[in-house]
Amino acid sequence: MRRKLIAGNWKMNMTPSQAKALIEEVKPLVAGKDNCDILFCVPFVDIFAAQEAAKGSNIKIGAENVHFAEKGAYTGEISASMLTECGVEYVIIGHSERRQYFGETDETVNLRTKAALAAGMKVILCLGEVKDQRLSGITDEVVAMQTKLDLKDVTEEQLKNVIIAYEPVWAIGTGLTATPEQADETCGVIRNTIKALYGEKAADEIIIQYGGSMNAQNAKELLAKENVDGGLIGGASLKAKDFSIIVDCAQ
Ligand code: 13P
Repeated sequence: MRRKLIAGNWKMNMTPSQAKALIEEVKPLVAGKDNCDILFCVPFVDIFAAQEAAKGSNIKIGAENVHFAEKGAYTGEISASMLTECGVEYVIIGHSERRQYFGETDETVNLRTKAALAAGMKVILCLGEVKDQRLSGITDEVVAMQTKLDLKDVTEEQLKNVIIAYEPVWAIGTGLTATPEQADETCGVIRNTIKALYGEKAADEIIIQYGGSMNAQNAKELLAKENVDGGLIGGASLKAKDFSIIVDCAQ
């Protein structure tokens, strides 16, 4: 049985004081709901405020990106050791918004993934097809290729710290959601790719989330699917009640 991970991706939302207020609002709503892991990945400047607010609760705080170099002349970037020293265990890598707006490629996603894993972090690796690729019927090939390229040279041991978030780009922030069947099928393709690369045990164990307009209304059906081990939630993670309903759906 894989343990579900319900994770919010706040993107570029929430100041530190807003972060504190939201976490404090979510805390009582998810208290005692221990059948899944609960995580918020937050802007770097919110990390301390969010951690402070989450103290003593079942909510974990992660980051939204990490650079691949250990240190050096990379103005504006944050390294894995900076995050781990701040007590951050989880980091999102390769989100489609990074790929779309900030020139992220499978190559840089792979570099970041390896750096974070080498620092002992858990990586939420995001991948997924764009609309044209889905309409052209090449979704399976696209996600299989991204899985292979993004995990290049990641060892079987390191893979235990990798979570994959399948996020069809056409479903992100659009209100369009993959049907539960589409989500299950494509998460299954990713799982089969992991099986081909790392074997059956690794494929059985890896957590594969769905992301893309998951909300309080559609979460139950999506999370009921065999290959969907959780959600990476954008918009609905900014609303305490909606997020807590999604957590309930994973219980
Ligand atoms: P939305 O839930 O707002 O569609 O965002 C999904 C997402 O990108 C999570 O990483």
